[in-house]
Amino acid sequence: MSKLKVAVIGCGSIARHRHLVEYANNPEVEIAAVCDIVESRAQEAAEIYDAKAYTSFEALLDSENIDAVSVCLPNYLHAPVSIAALNAGCHVLCEKPMATSKEEAEDMIRAAKANNKKLMIGHNQRFVSSHQRARKLIEQGEAGRIYSFRTTFGHGGPEGWSADGEDSWFFKKDQAFIGAMGDLGVHKADLLRYILDEEFVEVGAFVETSAKENTDVDDNATLILKTEKGVIGTLAASWAYTAEEDNSTIIYGEKAILRLEDDPRYSLVVQYKNGEVVNYELGGIQSNDEGGQTTTHVIDHFVEAILQDAEPLINGEEGKKSLEVILGALESVKTNRICRLEK
Ligand SMILES: NC(=O)c1ccc[n+]([C@@H]2O[C@H](COP(=O)([O-])OP(=O)(O)OC[C@H]3O[C@@H](n4cnc5c(N)ncnc54)[C@H](O)[C@@H]3O)[C@@H](O)[C@H]2O)c1
Repeated sequence: MSKLKVAVIGCGSIARHRHLVEYANNPEVEIAAVCDIVESRAQEAAEIYDAKAYTSFEALLDSENIDAVSVCLPNYLHAPVSIAALNAGCHVLCEKPMATSKEEAEDMIRAAKANNKKLMIGHNQRFVSSHQRARKLIEQGEAGRIYSFRTTFGHGGPEGWSADGEDSWFFKKDQAFIGAMGDLGVHKADLLRYILDEEFVEVGAFVETSAKENTDVDDNATLILKTEKGVIGTLAASWAYTAEEDNSTIIYGEKAILRLEDDPRYSLVVQYKNGEVVNYELGGIQSNDEGGQTTTHVIDHFVEAILQDAEPLINGEEGKKSLEVILGALESVKTNRICRLEK
């Protein structure tokens, strides 16, 4: 059978560390084309992966017969480029946060439906082993009733990551629309929805730009959240965890406490009420700094969904619900009130 022809639009850090590497490692796929507005980035990726280089996504979609694309662009381009690709007949894997508004997210979902194509959002945290195991343990009742949680995702900031360093779009509100809360917080909003298998119904937030001078978006955010069944918790996102990244989650239940990615040795620690402790060595959380060492499973899952004609785990609806938590947090900041989220 002929291979799936994919294109990667945006050849910055997430494309280079993850999408390009993981497509190249997937035997079902051929990277046919790459695109970046900075020609040297497109050329470099094209040379490595033996693909055709473009500086315009429109030209790429017009000239190549592509089956699927990854949208690895600044946030404000997620919706327009995803919709253009869906309308050109491509399946789309779009990076997070899905879009900059609920309306954009809805337009993306509509375009996927109208063209009968898959739309997946790159919420890779759902594929981390400790996270999947925790969801299963909770589902099996191992922790009893869940009362509360605390989750956090922070590092030193995108200047150490983005292809454009200090000048990155990540710091510009018109391109990023949101800072640490949308970059890192949305991952945890999605993760908790997945682990608890519940929707959030209320959110309140404090958001500050306190650590960076080159930005008009938030670099520290703390959310309080409540689910439909009354699980309450905090979610912190930061670009100012200066010494070390923190990507941990703790879930407090009737029979046990689950510590996820909180211990350097054991990715999941379950502390039972009766004093018993079970340490799971499931392998560390995938870090984007490790290059091609580990896989996010995101790309393989997307490819499989296309080939099996199955709905991806994080489809447009899922991406939209996680985005809405963050949009609700912004609304809370604006109104200085707790925001109710639509179900
Ligand atoms: N899932 C994850 O863990 C994860 C991690 C990091 C970033 N991301 C997401 O990936 C997306 C890209 O982030 P990044 O870290 O790669 O950023 P980056 O700054 O490293 O790269 C963005 C690239 O897009 C290119 N670009 C900008 N406008 C363009 C246009 N009109 N046409 C073509 N190319 C254009 C830039 O030249 C740059 O090379 C963002 O949405 C980000 O939130 C996801």
